[in-house]
Amino acid sequence: MAYYQKHNDMEKKFKRTTITSALPYANGPVHIGHLAGVYVPADIYARYLRLKKEEVIFIGGSDEHGVPITIRAKKEGCTPQDIVDRYHELIKKSFEEFGISFDVYGRTTSKVHSETASDFFRKLYDKGEFIEKTSMQYYDEEAKTFLADRYITGECPRCHAQGAYGDQCEKCGSTLSPTELINPKSAISGSQPVMKETTHWYLPLDKHEVWLRQWILESHKEWRPNVYGQCKSWLDMGLQPRAVSRDLDWGIPVPVEGAEGKVLYVWFDAPIGYISNTKELLPDNWEKWWKDPETRLVHFIGKDNIVFHCIVFPAMLKAEGSYILPDNVPANEFLNLEGDKISTSRNWAVWLHEYLQDFPGKQDVLRYVLTANAPETKDNDFTWKDFQARNNNELVAVYGNFVNRALQLTKKYFDGKVPACGELTDYDRETLKDFADVKAEVEKLLDVFKFRDAQKEAMNLARIGNKYLADTEPWKLAKTDMGRVATILNIALQLVANLAIAFEPFLPFSSKKLREMLNVEHLEWDNLGRTDLLPEGHQLGEPVLLFEKIDDETIQAQVDKLLATKKANEAANYKANPVKPTVSIEDFDKLDIRVGTVLECAPVPKMKKLLQFKIADGLEDRTIVSGIAQHYKPEELVGKQVLFIANLAPRQFKNGLVSEGMILSAENWDGSLAVTSVLREVKPGSEVK
Ligand code: MF3
Ligand code: ZN
Repeated sequence: MAYYQKHNDMEKKFKRTTITSALPYANGPVHIGHLAGVYVPADIYARYLRLKKEEVIFIGGSDEHGVPITIRAKKEGCTPQDIVDRYHELIKKSFEEFGISFDVYGRTTSKVHSETASDFFRKLYDKGEFIEKTSMQYYDEEAKTFLADRYITGECPRCHAQGAYGDQCEKCGSTLSPTELINPKSAISGSQPVMKETTHWYLPLDKHEVWLRQWILESHKEWRPNVYGQCKSWLDMGLQPRAVSRDLDWGIPVPVEGAEGKVLYVWFDAPIGYISNTKELLPDNWEKWWKDPETRLVHFIGKDNIVFHCIVFPAMLKAEGSYILPDNVPANEFLNLEGDKISTSRNWAVWLHEYLQDFPGKQDVLRYVLTANAPETKDNDFTWKDFQARNNNELVAVYGNFVNRALQLTKKYFDGKVPACGELTDYDRETLKDFADVKAEVEKLLDVFKFRDAQKEAMNLARIGNKYLADTEPWKLAKTDMGRVATILNIALQLVANLAIAFEPFLPFSSKKLREMLNVEHLEWDNLGRTDLLPEGHQLGEPVLLFEKIDDETIQAQVDKLLATKKANEAANYKANPVKPTVSIEDFDKLDIRVGTVLECAPVPKMKKLLQFKIADGLEDRTIVSGIAQHYKPEELVGKQVLFIANLAPRQFKNGLVSEGMILSAENWDGSLAVTSVLREVKPGSEVK
């Protein structure tokens, strides 16, 4: 079935669509940032095209090569294969449960992939599309291996932090090259690496610049401004040859004589994974999905992948010669979490597999929130408060409430059978007209990848329904005008059926539930906007709640989990203060530090921070006031031995209280205080020397 897509005022004709979504690295689970940026919009788009009965395939898979995976394996003392096996399974399973409707979810360690990628490289090699260059790179003589940028650490030349990587300093965020590092060390053996010659193959992007400029800057002005802008700035800076091989023992071997120990660079093989996974799905007719100019190729990615999908991969495809190029690359910006950048290494994320466990059956709530907050034009923030509010105030209070009212009233007054529609009022007509427009509106937005606005349109339909019932108040008419009640409920039920269709690409689980409640097996997208979806007399199913309120405790538990992560990260990053200037033993001797036993301990009225102590000091006992009330309960300290300074000048507090000394506490990394003591009981008044 052909359809038309307008851009640049030119009508382009396509027969089918190949949708790809970035292959996630199989070195960790998938989180909400991945979902909001790539998988939820790609899934909405795939479902939408399928509902329109277009020919479409939706390709996914794991990206299983690259240095981070080898580092992770080394850290855990297992093989890279162990790592990717573990995460591939986890990611695949959680995508499935979340309703990401891939037609295939492959992996780049598959046989068909390594053959495809290897053949692709070989073809470019044979066509003379690469250049060969020899350069000096860091080599670890102990481990007898060249070092990937990530495997070299040292002092950052910009901010002088230790532990910067050969490609980036995580402290100051600078992009680095390994030769810039001060005092470089191999992360494998710890030895100092040496420079050694190595030969690699490069894709000469500079030679592709002219057609790339024309193709992107002139022919694809309709691409999102963030995508177009990033491409333009790359092109304006001038393209350089890019290495497509690496010295590494994890990856697809470079299929060239004399290339032992070299593998394809992960960013060379990964996008070819889209092609291999299509082959996996359709071994006999994958080609039309990649080589027929009537196929439309669309890549869903995050913004950090733009250059690879808009410049490098197209250059590879063009160099190969028989492939189509992407028609659009709807890249998203980033989603932050509670104000901070999502980070796998800092565990600052909401992990999909944990969400599925913590919120069973609530896939659509997360889908809804991530689309409502999609970072389509700028970075956005996910907060648990917003998640709760959108669930309670929109899904429950608007969509769910409307559906529930319409179905419950029909059950009550008409035994759950669709009542007859009588004469229409002006308000009825207006309402019906409103929802007749929704199909065109939603389609117009989805066609240009405005998922957020499209979902808003669907929600708007629910608002119309909710308002319609609130305004017409059929429950008040039941005693006087059953004919009118029938009409109102008929209209409301037609609206409910329309909602099931309109939300289908966005909230597929709820639409299914809703169809069950309506007792209809199937609703056609094409019929969206019609007012006769449910015939008079049709028996509805049992109404159940479409959405449930999420309470404060549930949200607090998630917030607490994040706070615990934050604390753990801070603790891990804690570094003790530098030591103060040296003092002499005479200086130290001036301080009279002693052990005392706490006889009494009590809060000080009106002074929230203070505790008042009576300390047995082996002489006459003394009063000490200490600012630790937020860290100890008085009863925890009574009977304990503490260290105190016995010769500190007395200090008077505002309320007249006088402190005769100071109890010594250690300040923990987070500002909490721990009172000091002795490891064995001693006589009160014993001196500390
Ligand atoms: N694994 C890459 C990332 O997470 C994305 C790869 S997309 C590809 O950034 F398909 F081109 F591989
Ligand atoms: Zn730095």
